[in-house]
Amino acid sequence: MSESGRMSKLGVGLIGANRWARAAHLPAYAAHERVDLVAVCDLVPERARALQTEFGARKVYFDHRELLADPEVRVVDVCTSTHTHLELSLAAIAAGKHVLCEKPLHTAAEPAFAAAAAAAARGVRTKLGFTFRYSPAIRQLKDWIESGRLGEIFHVHGFEQNSQFLDPDFPLRQVAPDAPRDRLLPASIVGYGSHLVDLLRWLAGDFSAVAATMRNFVPERQVVGMQGRQRIAVEDGTVALVEFASGAQGLLQSSYIAIGNYPGVEIRVYGSKGAGIARLISEFGVAESLKFASADAVEFREVAIEPVRLPPGTTLATPWPELYYRNLIRHFVDEILADGPEECTFRDGAMSQQIVDTIIAAHAERRWLDMPPAPPGGTAARAGGR
Ligand SMILES: NC(=O)c1ccc[n+]([C@@H]2O[C@H](COP(=O)([O-])OP(=O)(O)OC[C@H]3O[C@@H](n4cnc5c(N)ncnc54)[C@H](O)[C@@H]3O)[C@@H](O)[C@H]2O)c1
Repeated sequence: MSESGRMSKLGVGLIGANRWARAAHLPAYAAHERVDLVAVCDLVPERARALQTEFGARKVYFDHRELLADPEVRVVDVCTSTHTHLELSLAAIAAGKHVLCEKPLHTAAEPAFAAAAAAAARGVRTKLGFTFRYSPAIRQLKDWIESGRLGEIFHVHGFEQNSQFLDPDFPLRQVAPDAPRDRLLPASIVGYGSHLVDLLRWLAGDFSAVAATMRNFVPERQVVGMQGRQRIAVEDGTVALVEFASGAQGLLQSSYIAIGNYPGVEIRVYGSKGAGIARLISEFGVAESLKFASADAVEFREVAIEPVRLPPGTTLATPWPELYYRNLIRHFVDEILADGPEECTFRDGAMSQQIVDTIIAAHAERRWLDMPPAPPGGTAARAGGR
């Protein structure tokens, strides 16, 4: 590519070149006509080299500090193991780069709010990898709510469940070696629930109070890095009741053991005029479906997902990680290049974490808990946006 060709594109550098980068992030950059994939970086050189070749990155690094020092990189994508997200994102912000980070930014809300504030102060944009906000069906449902097609919203139900960990011999990755053995270890509500509460908050507005119950159903299971089945009380299922600030009622379920395929997200919204059900479950080669019913035609009918909501070159047969991530990354790149409104930021990640923490506390205390006030914060005071 010529120098002038590169200048009109957005330079991206990705840190963490393994499974999820290959399935979701890198296909999205490769498909965007205004992205210059400058570099990929991994601590494991063969992983970095393999994905550099597969997706045509121009450079390869094995130390993130070199990638952050590269002036051609304007957006940093943090797709590493979860415990590194916050530190790498803060380093990218300090280097003046826009940042896309995989979820969760951190497993505590306070440092996530602080990272959002640091990005605003530095004038860079952030996006958190809440994959399902970028489902075409979910975006269509969101538009129905915004346009008033569903009327006043009464009930919002959200599920993220599949049977990934029903088999005790399917190794669980998300358990630290020093995890406590004497109490319930929040798991599905952290891994799946963070997506789900973000979706419900995006669709129905702020949470005002929650009540919840959490349980371990599979008492012994294999854990990555440990020999034999381990007796660890991993939380396999959470149910929460939600009061929204708008007055709407919510109900959510996260589960590692409910029979069904990936990703297993279903959102139902019931309003005074209409209702919609978005089902993001890969079945028989189709990624998702959307249904609608109205007050005077109460039988739900399948609705065609508008083609404009599908990223160019995809269909509903495209594997869901690529379908949703192509949309997510297209939105982020276009937001930056057009200096458009921000969406799905680090602050949204922090708000989601605060809700997850409150759900866990409500279970532990066996009572309704009001949401604590969120720290003040707003959108980035960007210097020039691009
Ligand atoms: N949004 C979603 O729907 C979704 C789905 C799957 C995974 N994820 C998240 O994506 C992230 C990546 O998932 P994965 O399965 O590919 O993880 P993984 O552990 O297989 O790969 C992470 C890679 O990051 C590299 N790495 C770690 N620290 C590094 C550093 N400081 N510098 C350079 N490289 C570093 C590791 O060497 C490894 O190759 C995880 O946080 C995971 O939770 C999100």
